[in-house]
This record gives sequence, structure tokens and C-alpha cells, in this order.
Amino acid sequence: MSIRPLVILPDPLLRVVSDVVSHADGATKALIEDMFETMYDAPGVGLAAVQVGVTQRIVTMDASRKDDEKEPLALINPEIIWSSDALSEYEEGCLSIPDYHEVVIRPAKVGVRYLDLDGKSFEREMEGLAATVVQHEIDHLNGKLFIDHLSRLKRERVIKKFQKLARREGSE
Ligand code: NI
Repeated sequence: MSIRPLVILPDPLLRVVSDVVSHADGATKALIEDMFETMYDAPGVGLAAVQVGVTQRIVTMDASRKDDEKEPLALINPEIIWSSDALSEYEEGCLSIPDYHEVVIRPAKVGVRYLDLDGKSFEREMEGLAATVVQHEIDHLNGKLFIDHLSRLKRERVIKKFQKLARREGSE
């Protein structure tokens, strides 16, 4: 297992729509292990494969409470199959947009269908933090970021800030 480098805004990779995983193999398993290690090290509660540079529809997450036992969950080809009319607000962040947090409003409950490494299909209802995380991560698989849910003014401000940071790093 190893920690993989994170893809950071404004890297255009973050706008790529990830590919469906047609066959999970040893490389998929190794990727998922690395994604968990990278996510827990960050630390973060969710990670999409594109954030470590692999444009495949794979998500790792752990929405357990801080002092509770870990609940690692890996989702292959996850899809939202229904979402509640009830909404919830959560202050989100993203490992690809470090040190930036903003409140996002999303459906409070969702149904998620996904595959595990053995290709077995699961359906699960998620609410609270898990619902927010899974929607945020599935957005990543579609090239969408949480800042896309904010006003244009806020979004453009944060993109500019990260473009400036990237230019500064590039010129050093
Ligand atoms: Ni994110």
C-alpha cells in the first residue's frame, strides 16, 4: 500500500468524466487500498479515483464518527438511484481544493447502487454525512466539484486563487 499524490485544482483532470469499471482486477484492489491509505492520511472522509489521477468510477469513503470504529466503504461504479426531497446543509471541503470550506445544500437522503470488488451489486440508503460524502464523490466521477454548487462569484474567486497558487509553484 502507498499514499498517492493528490490532484489539485485547477488540474484539468478534475473535469474529466471517469470511465465505468468493466472488470475489477488486482490493479483495482491495489488502487482501492492506496485510496484508503491516501484518504486516511490526508485526513479525509471520501476520495474519488480521479483525485489520485485514475479516471475510473471508484470511490472510497468513511463517514464514521471520529471516536467510533472505522467504516471503510469502497464503491465501484456507484450511482444515485433516488434522492429525497428533503435537503440538508453541510460545510464541505475537498482534498483537491485544500483549506477551502463552504456550505453546500444537497438531498438529505439518497439511495446508492454500486459494485464491490467481486462484482456483486449492492443498494444502500445513506443519510447524514454519508449522503453528503457519496454525492460529493459521485460528482467527482462526473467531472463536477463542490464549488460548482456555489454562486458563480464564489466559484470564480476560489478558482482564481488556486490558479495563482499553481502559477507560483510552477515558477519556483
Ligand atoms: Ni472532493
